[in-house]
Amino acid sequence: MEKWTNNDLYIVENLIEEEPYQKIILENSRKNDLPEMEISPTQGKFLYLLAKIKGAKRVLEIGTFVGYSTIWLAKAITDDGLVVSLEFDEHYSEIARRNIELADFSDKVTIITGDAAESLHKLVEENESPFDMIFLDADKPNYPTYLKLILKLSKPGTIIYGDNVIRDGELCNESTKDEKVIGVRNYIESLGKSELLDSTALQTVGIKGYDGFSLSIVK
Ligand code: DHB
Ligand code: MG
Repeated sequence: MEKWTNNDLYIVENLIEEEPYQKIILENSRKNDLPEMEISPTQGKFLYLLAKIKGAKRVLEIGTFVGYSTIWLAKAITDDGLVVSLEFDEHYSEIARRNIELADFSDKVTIITGDAAESLHKLVEENESPFDMIFLDADKPNYPTYLKLILKLSKPGTIIYGDNVIRDGELCNESTKDEKVIGVRNYIESLGKSELLDSTALQTVGIKGYDGFSLSIVK
């Protein structure tokens, strides 16, 4: 086992308290052979702390999957807050809805099922109020498309967190044929070129291996 896996487990043991139902969500995902796409507990706590530091009331999540991260975000926002979470896959959104209900966070979460770009277009058209924090964790090739739409649902001070942008260290591989890597490369380059954003990206290791995230703030 990699040294960083044990360190991650040690950190979880000492610093992280998940909602009781979150543990069951992860167990059920593995039992049902779902892809290991949930954020790790340490990352969930990090997102939770970011949302707390921001005092976030309204959070947009792109990529609900089974709702594990959604619960971290719902727990972090103010009592009158809302997490709007977009999920393409009907099966995943059904699982997530049930999980969020069982974790008792339904009153703070709205899941919208369907193509995320279409859902984002709709939110823009319907003049949805801007979000305080946006967690981008969906299909990587579309990250650049989502970024353009996300900016229309932001305001100065909005935090944008992009998951899985390091991809086992492949981010800097300019000759890659991997559509996911190409997607996150274009995303990172768009962040850099955007005059609206101040951004960085950090590499991480832990129970999910070698990956990382980008963090931006809308100027
Ligand atoms: C992948 C997607 C994720 O959101 C994640 O956390 C890990 C991997 C992927 O599509 O490879
Ligand atoms: Mg992810």
